[in-house]
Amino acid sequence: MNILLLGLGGREHALAWKLAQSPLCDKLWAAPGNPGIAQDAECVALDATDHDAVIAFAREKEIGLVVIGPEAPLVDGLADSLRAAGIDAFGPSKQAAQLEGSKGFTKELCKRANIPTARYERCTSLEAAWGALKKFDPPFVLKADGLAAGKGVVIADTREEAQNALNEMFDGKFGSAGSEVVIEQFLTGEEASFFALTDGTAILPIGTAQDHKRVGEGDTGPNTGGMGAYSPAPVLSEALQAQVMREIVEPTVQTLREEGMPYSGVLYAGLMLTTDGPQLIEYNARFGDPECQVLMMRLESDLVELMQACARGTLGEVAAPVLSDDFALTVVMAAEGYPGTPKKGGTIHLGEAEARGAKVFHAGTKLDGDTLTSSGGRVLNVTARGASATEAQANAYAAVDAIDFADGFCRRDIGQREVRRERG
Ligand code: AMP
Ligand code: GLY
Repeated sequence: MNILLLGLGGREHALAWKLAQSPLCDKLWAAPGNPGIAQDAECVALDATDHDAVIAFAREKEIGLVVIGPEAPLVDGLADSLRAAGIDAFGPSKQAAQLEGSKGFTKELCKRANIPTARYERCTSLEAAWGALKKFDPPFVLKADGLAAGKGVVIADTREEAQNALNEMFDGKFGSAGSEVVIEQFLTGEEASFFALTDGTAILPIGTAQDHKRVGEGDTGPNTGGMGAYSPAPVLSEALQAQVMREIVEPTVQTLREEGMPYSGVLYAGLMLTTDGPQLIEYNARFGDPECQVLMMRLESDLVELMQACARGTLGEVAAPVLSDDFALTVVMAAEGYPGTPKKGGTIHLGEAEARGAKVFHAGTKLDGDTLTSSGGRVLNVTARGASATEAQANAYAAVDAIDFADGFCRRDIGQREVRRERG
């Protein structure tokens, strides 16, 4: 089968790497891809917002499965357009992708399906939002309703800060994403991510992970898309995972199906492990980036078979994904300036980074002639495995140290919490 993968980041490089390993994959195309993805796929320039162009390409190249990596094309209904054209797509419909595209949608669903999540208020005007603030105590959690490239959440320590943030949101700081705002109760606990594949009926867990959202060591500084991740997340014990399936993921999939908007693809649940049990912080309608990189590093099953079964509604006939018993850990190398304006064009020499089983996924790279250079904020995802988090961390940083990227930086403490736990 020929496969088309849409996207250009480290997540898509990890997916391309895994898809290309499948005996079911004849030819892999990626649009637009990147120089790393080009090692596993043929890259083409295709505009994912032009649904007709994607359909025409898929027909011409006899594509049997389109894998949609990022959230924007999902929320934009690309999966619906492909399905209407008779082309199998991995990823939810526009309606179901509202789980990521609208915080308010997800909150209302949680209410209908009795899913544990923070108490909240949906506000469509600044006046209403200022009023609703009175029902909460600091710290205040304010969320722009729509997609805001991971930047739409503000945690404000004081009422004044919260009011200022609300002013900015309704003033268009996050564009139309902020025309509606959700205010919610602050939850305390440890955060962890749980991933499941579903075809709308059957659900198969595909691993757990934890990421590091802040740019600085010790979880300091501004939020980023993620500076590193590891899998598994042992804080999500077998018992907690069963509870997450029972109380959060299953009722979500069931309710969406019953309401006529079945969800298919990967469901990424961001969780807070509170003393009252796991609570849903957010859903994403795609794999996490860089969480996907560590999941793919551990996945032993055939990714094509799993994704095709999600797309075709036959997941119930497929064996559950098998992940290796060891740890995988990825360190993001970012360009100076990230998460502000990153310095682009810095040269990169990967050297012997992959010599001892590590894998360098490309996130923001480009080729200038034969020279690899940086072209984005997050540039490389240096990923390694080990029998423990401690070993995976050592292997990943050994690979990082083999790379020459003068304009880049990384956190040196990815996985530290787990390493500390292992030390006891
Ligand atoms: P989100 O984009 O919804 O994942 O939010 C970004 C980050 O804000 C999360 O990863 C949490 O660290 C934090 N956050 C979101 N909602 C809450 C909440 N209700 N209580 C505490 N922290 C939260
Ligand atoms: N790493 C967080 C995300 O992909 O949303």
